[in-house]
Amino acid sequence: MSATDASPDDEPASEVTFKDDGDVLRPYTLVAELTYRCGLRCAYCSNPVHLQELGAELDTAMWARVFREAEELGVMQVTLTGGEPLLRHDLETLVREARAQELYTTLITSGIPLERERLVRLRDAGLDGLQLSVQDTDAATAARIAGVDALGQKAFVASWARELGIPLTVNVVLHRQNLARLPELIALGESWGAERLELAHVQYLGWALENRAALLPTAAMIAEARAEIARARERLGRRMELLAVLPDYFSEAPRACMEGWGRRYMVVAPDGRVVPCQAAHTLPGLTFESVTSRPLAWIWRESDAFARFRGEDWMPEPCRTCDRRTQDFGGCRCQAFHLTGDASATDPACSLAPQHEIVLRARAEAEGASAAPAGPPGPPATDGTPEEVAAEVTVPAARLRLRRPPVAG
Ligand code: SF4
Ligand code: FES
Repeated sequence: MSATDASPDDEPASEVTFKDDGDVLRPYTLVAELTYRCGLRCAYCSNPVHLQELGAELDTAMWARVFREAEELGVMQVTLTGGEPLLRHDLETLVREARAQELYTTLITSGIPLERERLVRLRDAGLDGLQLSVQDTDAATAARIAGVDALGQKAFVASWARELGIPLTVNVVLHRQNLARLPELIALGESWGAERLELAHVQYLGWALENRAALLPTAAMIAEARAEIARARERLGRRMELLAVLPDYFSEAPRACMEGWGRRYMVVAPDGRVVPCQAAHTLPGLTFESVTSRPLAWIWRESDAFARFRGEDWMPEPCRTCDRRTQDFGGCRCQAFHLTGDASATDPACSLAPQHEIVLRARAEAEGASAAPAGPPGPPATDGTPEEVAAEVTVPAARLRLRRPPVAG
């Protein structure tokens, strides 16, 4: 039976379990990508580069079934994300459905478009937390990165969240163009009354990889960012939690992407495909099952895509015998593929990786030491294709143009 002709409930949930430090391996977090539509056009957007290949969005009833099955599987929290989840007119219903399953619900949003009345409705539906993305404290740079001037609206959304008693996390994606304003970004989170500030450096995949030359900082910038974060943590104490993830291009070892493939996270794409991470669909040779044709439990336990890089059997040397393999799980499969062409390669961010040279070369380019000048302009913008815009971003070697996603939806 193919994935497409099986009905959702025609197979019993498998009894197969996976051992994980003595516990049954189960997903804790469901990442619900409700839509790829978004009014912003961030130069590091996690949306697929080729949006036009994707199917229709799941409807309300199907998402409700996903939440029910996720809870049965052991999921404890659901992050409602996109694209921009506010563009789903049924978002309040989806929050209510997730809460009905006692799932902790967090909305990850740009805050556009949002009015206070709708935030009241989302709170009343049971929303547990709001994560508001901020591009920069400098409005002009923020607008260049996002393609939209949005900082003022975000300040309103933060103030409404405080008034309404919705726990607020401010998310900032860090990169070369905003790292220098780290003190201001931290101060912004404080002044907005955020419980938590997440400073997560761009992950160089998808659109961010397209724009890496403009986004990858220098080693000195990273060192200064580390020092600033340490100072801020000491000063803030418990007043505001500060989470920071700096790029693994500057570390000795890669990060434990998604806490390991198929270990803790399930991502459901807008069209229902279930993937271990938001970029997994770009890996060749994997078949991703959909909630429209399979129960979630079957996909988690049985599907080839989740099994492919689970555990250690797939690991090549040096990971296979490395002491860190239970901590970083060999790094990011998507980064390995997009840098080497082989999804089972050791992540080149690792200093022990046979292809670590790829990352060292990117770092050298960022330093401007061996930087190539800006490449020739890309193709002119056309509907549905990546657009190259004359954004005034600078690196030592050149002024670069950003490629950004087309407006989706
Ligand atoms: Fe991690 Fe593999 Fe590098 Fe060891 S060799 S640190 S397991 S990526
Ligand atoms: Fe896919 Fe890291 S983003 S494994």
